Amino acid sequence: MIIKKENGKSEAMRPASGRRFKMIAKTMAGLEEILAEEVRGCGGDNVEVLKRAVSFEGDMRVLYRANYTCRTALSILRPFAEFEANDEQELYNQVNRIAWEKLMSIDSTFMIDSTTSGEIFTHSYYAALKTKDAIVDRFRKKFGRRPSIDTEHADYKFNLHIADNHVTLLQNSSGDSLHKRGYRQAVGIAPINEVLAAGMIKLAGWKCDCNFFDPMCGSGTILIEAAMLANNIPAQYYRGDNYSFMNWSEFNLGDWKMVKTEENRKIGQGDFDFEIWGNDIDEGVLRQAEQNLEYAKLHKDVMLFHGSFEDQNPPEGRCMIITNPPYGERIKIEDLNGMYSRLGDTFKRLYGEGCEVWLITSDFEAMKHIGLRPSRKIPLMNGPLDCRFMKFELYDGSRKASKQKAQDEQ
Ligand SMILES: C[S@@+](CC[C@H](N)C(=O)[O-])C[C@H]1O[C@@H](n2cnc3c(N)ncnc32)[C@H](O)[C@@H]1O
Repeated sequence: MIIKKENGKSEAMRPASGRRFKMIAKTMAGLEEILAEEVRGCGGDNVEVLKRAVSFEGDMRVLYRANYTCRTALSILRPFAEFEANDEQELYNQVNRIAWEKLMSIDSTFMIDSTTSGEIFTHSYYAALKTKDAIVDRFRKKFGRRPSIDTEHADYKFNLHIADNHVTLLQNSSGDSLHKRGYRQAVGIAPINEVLAAGMIKLAGWKCDCNFFDPMCGSGTILIEAAMLANNIPAQYYRGDNYSFMNWSEFNLGDWKMVKTEENRKIGQGDFDFEIWGNDIDEGVLRQAEQNLEYAKLHKDVMLFHGSFEDQNPPEGRCMIITNPPYGERIKIEDLNGMYSRLGDTFKRLYGEGCEVWLITSDFEAMKHIGLRPSRKIPLMNGPLDCRFMKFELYDGSRKASKQKAQDEQ
């Protein structure tokens, strides 16, 4: 079904199930290529990498699958109107002409997220307010009533995107951000975002073909994302059926159930036969990790240890180590440089040929003290913090030398 703007000036599309349409999956900076691969895996066509997003085409089933399985997507949006506006009045008029009553019911709640760039619309909040006014005025004029705003749990979420005078309106099919997986029962002081954790595991190229270890696991996000990947558990398996697309008129419950059944059938199908370990110095935060793992029924898949990273006895054999140490931002450590230096020594002493260490940090000064040369540095953002995700390859040679050094020092 195509929604025609009443004056026919702008394009608007609203496909039925089976009909293909354009979608935008949003992600974090640095994870675009990973997301593009995930979207292809969901059956998305014409995949294009954008800034912090990926555009693609598909039908409603692709939209369901992308929401349910993409580990590195924050939301899946569907553009439905595009037009030009050179001032606030023009924005109001154009928005007011859209047949919003075909997109949402009068008894529902809605909200608008906005991003603006350029010289015309300098305050995204005002652009969103103008858009909201245009929508409710249209409802009031036609029906004498209007849908309400709910900024927390709206039935319908819309994104307003303005670049200079180019306006795009999109339906947010996900509702709550997809980083809210549903397994987090307890959080530490500085939990890493689930989407970032999953993206790091994928960027590191872990193929679930060796052991996995996070020596500073906090509330266990990286471990849980690794265990979900190893067991083929869909990203939103624990979330519950709360997606905005379920309020859309073309939502098809049968298709949605079918997509979920197909994806859930893959759980445990891989033959993952390695160990996943976590460790932290803080017993309280480890209890939170335990709670989260138990909720996700992954407590038998992941072993947790209490202690400082130096005192570990890691599993034998090849190991992927991915960790998110303190940066001195939210967790205060007295001698951060010393800690990074001990961390580097520990990696050299405990891990040999075939082991890879990846760590994310925003503390570039402390990083200089790790005493290992990164073979890759990937820029990533952890919230507002500009970080580097760094890879260190370990060799038996460095392990022997480091063990000898430790013995000599005793
Ligand atoms: C940034 S947090 C990790 C957060 C974790 N990724 C999550 O999602 O909850 C860093 C963690 O390092 C731990 N830590 C600090 N010093 C440590 C040490 N010497 N040995 C082990 N863990 C340590 C802290 O207790 C904290 O939980």
